[in-house]
Amino acid sequence: MKAKISATAKYLPKKTLTNKDLEKMVETSDEWILSRTGIEKRHLVEEGEATSDMCKHVANELLRKANKRPEEIDLILIATSTPDFPVVSTAALVQDKIGATNAWGYDIVAACTGFVYAMETGAKLVESGKYQNVIVIGADTMSSIIDYTDRNTCIIFGDGAGGVLLEPSENDNGVLDSILCADGSGEKYLTVPAGGSLNPASKDTVNKRMHYVYQDGKTVFKFAVKNMADVSKQILDNNNLTGEDIKLFIPHQANKRIIDAAAERCGLRDDQVLVNINKYGNTTAGTIPIALDDAVEEKMLEKGDILLFAAFGGGFTWGSMLIKWD
Ligand code: UT7
Repeated sequence: MKAKISATAKYLPKKTLTNKDLEKMVETSDEWILSRTGIEKRHLVEEGEATSDMCKHVANELLRKANKRPEEIDLILIATSTPDFPVVSTAALVQDKIGATNAWGYDIVAACTGFVYAMETGAKLVESGKYQNVIVIGADTMSSIIDYTDRNTCIIFGDGAGGVLLEPSENDNGVLDSILCADGSGEKYLTVPAGGSLNPASKDTVNKRMHYVYQDGKTVFKFAVKNMADVSKQILDNNNLTGEDIKLFIPHQANKRIIDAAAERCGLRDDQVLVNINKYGNTTAGTIPIALDDAVEEKMLEKGDILLFAAFGGGFTWGSMLIKWD
């Protein structure tokens, strides 16, 4: 039995931060940001709005689209690196906020690859036959961990959430295959150094600005280009597919230049690649499900189409997934 995607949804907060806004905050320019990353604007939460609130909107929208009652949900998986609290999972908060009284769930931390990791977990649990209605959401409130005086990071990230409902497939459509990878030795290149058990919050960690994202952009860029391209090509080869067989490539939206490199490696034309980084920036675990929902809204997908997801992120973590659309 396979797991199929029966609904998609996304949530982007109303407030936006444009490149022109950033010009007033740090030494940068609209031209630099657009040419180096492809980003024009990002969305940011209002004060008091957290990751579970964005997830609540996505989950309610999934229920509405799939015509399900909250009590029918068995399991909620939330991929996030920015939970509301260090203790109490975002999944538990979402379970309560949507009234999913028969659901359990947990968070998955794999930075920008989080949604692909969570999809693998959700799909395998559906395939086990024990769970019929599984919500999988990728969501990050990056503005809660971004230093808006650091031009290396603040120009890239935005807030947002996207998700899917997974159900058992009645045919051969659904999640076909995946490759998931990790290399924790990459920790030093992309991390939030404090706030965990190694460096608990203290006056010192706050003064040293250690609760913000630190990124060695150049090194991350090099690893992202190679690994995202390799893992995209590898999954095609493993399944005897070529770029021609792919209807839509939905990559993690970290940098337009990383996306272009992965697409070229797989022999994909521009019209086979979903790029929306211009509108939302890098929403970390949110990028792939948000892009998938954009594709559904724009009626780009038909039953039987093959989709390719690929992501790379902190950890390092990376992976790819093939889906046959139902
Ligand atoms: O999503 C998870 C994984 N994250 C990623 O995949 C991000 C990967 N990295 C990147 O996307 C890119 O490395 C960045 C967008 C972060 C930076 O772009 P880059 O082309 O690698 O720039 P760079 O760091 O090589 O810097 C080039 C120049 C430098 O000036 P000099 O030394 O050549 O004079 C920087 O100081 O651009 C300068 N610079 C900027 N200038 C204007 C760096 N950031 C900025 C900025 N505005 N925001």
